[in-house]
Amino acid sequence: MDGLEKIRENISKCDDAIIETLAERMRYIQDIIAYKKENGVPILQPEQETKQLNILRLKLKENPFSEEILEVITHIINTSKKVQAKSLFSYNIMLIGFMGAGKSTVSAYLGHMLAMDEVEMDAMIVQKEGMPITQIFETYGEEYFRNSESNILIELQKRNQTVVSCGGGVVLRDENIKNMKKHGRVVLLTASPETIFERVKDSTERPLLNQNMSVEFIASLLEKRKERYLLAADIIVNTDNKTIQEICEELIGKLTAID
Ligand code: S3P
Repeated sequence: MDGLEKIRENISKCDDAIIETLAERMRYIQDIIAYKKENGVPILQPEQETKQLNILRLKLKENPFSEEILEVITHIINTSKKVQAKSLFSYNIMLIGFMGAGKSTVSAYLGHMLAMDEVEMDAMIVQKEGMPITQIFETYGEEYFRNSESNILIELQKRNQTVVSCGGGVVLRDENIKNMKKHGRVVLLTASPETIFERVKDSTERPLLNQNMSVEFIASLLEKRKERYLLAADIIVNTDNKTIQEICEELIGKLTAID
C-alpha cells in the first residue's frame, strides 16, 4: 500500500468512529427528550445550549482546528434539535390568532429552538403577488386576498413538521379550517385587546387596522371572530404578560398532551 492509500485508510477509520459516535449521540438526544417528557422537565432550555457552547470553546482553545470543529459541532447541535423536534411532533404546527397575537414571534422562536422549518403565510402571499398586503387589498380587494390564503393552505399540505404562521383571518373560511387540520395541529394564540393594541399600534402593514387603530375596534373585531378561532383551535395559549420561552413551553406541553 502506498503512502497516500495509508492516509486514506486512516481517514476512513476516523469516519467510522465519527459515524458510531454520532449515532450514539443521537440516541442520547432521544433519551433526553424521553426523560424530559416523563419527568415534566422543560423541553426548551436555551441557557443549556449557551453553557454547552462555552464548554466546547474552552475545550477547543488550544486546538489548531477550533474554528472548523466548532462549525461542525454547531451543525451537529442543530441536527440534534431536529431529532428532538421529530420525536415531539409528526405534524405541522399551525399558529392562528388575531393580528398581534404573537404568531410570527412564536414561529421564529420554535424554529430556532427546535430547528423546525417555518413559513409565514402572509410573506408567501407577498412574494407570490409581488406587492405588500396593503396594496393587494387596495388593488384587488379582500376576497382576492382570502382566495390566495386558501390556495397557500392547500400548498402547505405538502409540508410536514413545519411551523406555519397563518394570517389572522384564515379561520374565516370553513375549508381553511379543514385544510389546516389535515396535516397539522392548530394552536390558537390569544391576547387581550390592550396587549394587541400595544403590539400593533405602530404598524401600517395591516389594512384592516390602518384606519381603525384603537383598542375599541380591536376588541369588537376580536369579539366577531372569537367563535371562529375557538372552532379551529386544537389548543389555546394565552400570551399576555408571558415571556416567549414560557409561551412556547406551554404550547409544547399542551400539544404533546393531546397526542
Ligand atoms: C389579517 C391579518 C394579517 C393579514 C391581513 C389580514 C386578518 O395577518 O393576513 O392583514 O384578517 O386578521 P397577521 O395576523 O399576521 O397580521
